[in-house]
Amino acid sequence: MITFKDSTFHLRSQATSYVLAIAASGELVHAYWGAALREPEVLHRFNPHDIAFAPRLLQDRDDLIFSLDTTPREYPDYGRGDFRSPAIQVQTADGSTISALRYVSHSIRPGKPALEGLPATYVEADTEADTLEILLRDALTGLEVALSYTVFNELDAIARSARFTNKGSQPVRLLRALSASVDLPEAGFELLQLSGAWARERHVARTPLRSGMQSLESRRGASSHQQNPFIALLDPSATEDTGRVYGMNLVYSGNFLAQAEVDQLATTRISIGINPFDFSWLLEPGESFQTPEAVLVFSSEGLNGLSQRYHRLYRTRLCRGLWRDKVRPILINNWEATYFDFNAEKIEAIASTAGELGIELFVLDDGWFGHRNDDCTSLGDWTTDLKKLPAGLPDLVGRINARGLRFGLWFEPEMISPDSDLYRAHPDWCLHVAGRDRTEGRQQLVLDFSRPEVCDAIIEKISAVLASAPITYVKWDMNRHMSEIGSASLPPERQRETAHRYMLGLYRVMSEITGRFPEVLFESCSGGGGRFDPGILFYMPQTWTSDDSDAVERLKIQYGTSIVYPVSAQGAHVSACPNHQVGRVTSLAMRGHVAMSGNFGYELDLNQLTPEERETVRAQVALYKDLRGVIQTGTFYRLRSPFEGGDAAWMSVSEDGSRAVVFYFQVLAQPNPGTALLRLRGLDADRRYRVAELGRSLGGDVLMNAGLRVDFPHPGDFQSLIWQLERE
Ligand code: DGJ
Repeated sequence: MITFKDSTFHLRSQATSYVLAIAASGELVHAYWGAALREPEVLHRFNPHDIAFAPRLLQDRDDLIFSLDTTPREYPDYGRGDFRSPAIQVQTADGSTISALRYVSHSIRPGKPALEGLPATYVEADTEADTLEILLRDALTGLEVALSYTVFNELDAIARSARFTNKGSQPVRLLRALSASVDLPEAGFELLQLSGAWARERHVARTPLRSGMQSLESRRGASSHQQNPFIALLDPSATEDTGRVYGMNLVYSGNFLAQAEVDQLATTRISIGINPFDFSWLLEPGESFQTPEAVLVFSSEGLNGLSQRYHRLYRTRLCRGLWRDKVRPILINNWEATYFDFNAEKIEAIASTAGELGIELFVLDDGWFGHRNDDCTSLGDWTTDLKKLPAGLPDLVGRINARGLRFGLWFEPEMISPDSDLYRAHPDWCLHVAGRDRTEGRQQLVLDFSRPEVCDAIIEKISAVLASAPITYVKWDMNRHMSEIGSASLPPERQRETAHRYMLGLYRVMSEITGRFPEVLFESCSGGGGRFDPGILFYMPQTWTSDDSDAVERLKIQYGTSIVYPVSAQGAHVSACPNHQVGRVTSLAMRGHVAMSGNFGYELDLNQLTPEERETVRAQVALYKDLRGVIQTGTFYRLRSPFEGGDAAWMSVSEDGSRAVVFYFQVLAQPNPGTALLRLRGLDADRRYRVAELGRSLGGDVLMNAGLRVDFPHPGDFQSLIWQLERE
């Protein structure tokens, strides 16, 4: 619901209010974001006794109080005395970088319009959300900015973005165009970020805010393993289940900036958007620029409350297509089983055992095309390697199908190997700058997806393979970051648009290919979880969470990922021991339970397992088939953090509340550990639940307040427990 009264907008969803107002001068001021208010009776936040720095810079001689520097602003521009970090900065034809955006008009409508060329949350019925659009104008240049706010009523989230249109007669250059900025009236928050590295993605880091700027960013041309386009501010006392938490997440897969700035008056400006570093965008008269969408979520029920809101929104109103609501297949992937060293017989042998054990999908990973026996060659040449698969791809797919499995295939569509026919034909199709070296990563270069003809060629090549055989799953990989970011097809004054134009091209390619093959399940990947962001989830409902398949490392990676992203988006596989990334040996049972906490699969040579291990796999597959509805679409609760102690626990409760599954993981055993009790969440306190593993039923009140006893039959490292609950 959105109301407008006394120059004040009140955006209200089920549990959240967001209030902004038009000041007498036409400046847009931010008034409130937090728990729902009945009426937006928000007091002016700035204190007239705050002199800040004398003399203050005043916008209006008749109003000695209103100063942009001490005012909470809604979409701060630059150059008129607000010394905090702006949301936008534009360079006008005279070379200056000042703007004065003031209110012109607004509209309030049911529903939510799509964002042209960009991924975004959506509605299926106009009653699900309302959208406020506020038009601002810089009178001198004619630059207009349409700020868009969509309030998802029941899903309890706000989506923000901005669209710039040059209505003047001179060109304007955007130097900075963030998607959202909010001035909160406090400074005592803690900042939570999801940071890491390859094989260590999205670790949770929580630190007190201090005076000045704290920022997270990517300059890699991808959202990245290193930082996720997400930032949260928390009350220092906030836990998984209590306290206020503010989250901002960018629906974008390229360079981003997320920052929190604590100012002299102990207020906090939190903002997110495309990284202004190495970015600019030229707007000729009449041209427009659309920013990506930022999704803002507030929770007064701690981090679980925040996560559950993001999960519901993303699972149901960001992900799309046939697979959005379908249970996901259990797969076997040959990468860690064979790497590049395979042939049709080897693949068939793995698939055959997989079929016997109940696995549903075989995924042929890297190495099936060109003459790719290692990672030095052939990207761009999407034709089957007949040395490895002499009877061709359709024949192999037929054989796998005959074993009862569907077939999936790996691609890396955005890349080109210098040793490829594509590169020999089109050496200028990669990102590069004339006269400079072309820095290779994993012996490959990045295709210039800012060029429509490059995108079109790749769409046709990938489509031809997908049309050639009954391929029902695609793993879409991306294995290096951008360097020498420049495009042979853009003029000098537009070179700094290349990285964003690449993203627009990528989204078009993904949209076209997924649209042509609506029945195919697409899983994105970027050297593991290097592009786990909501932008990609709009096109592909699941992502390979990390190249690190070690069960212990995965506890932190999956826990951190779940802060924002739903379980249904996380690929998780059981791999061989010693683990290929960290050399650790863990039990098959624990590896199974960790992988079952996401979209389950295997990534090992099943034929190397002992007969007993194979029976364990058979049982795991059967168990996951029974539980996957609860796990993939249930409400997820984090119970114990692997970042705080030597254990981890989480649970899922089915949408109708009738079933739940709880996982507990112990990393290292301790002598005399005492009695560990695990208190559950999300149950009905007044109902009883049958706990399969205990062979008895217990009250929801008991399970949530007294808890389950964590009891291993034998002491030992790397152990796990599962409890399956059924409401009586
Ligand atoms: C990186 C991915 O994350 C792996 O799973 C695998 O597909 C390799 N690339 C193949 O090159």
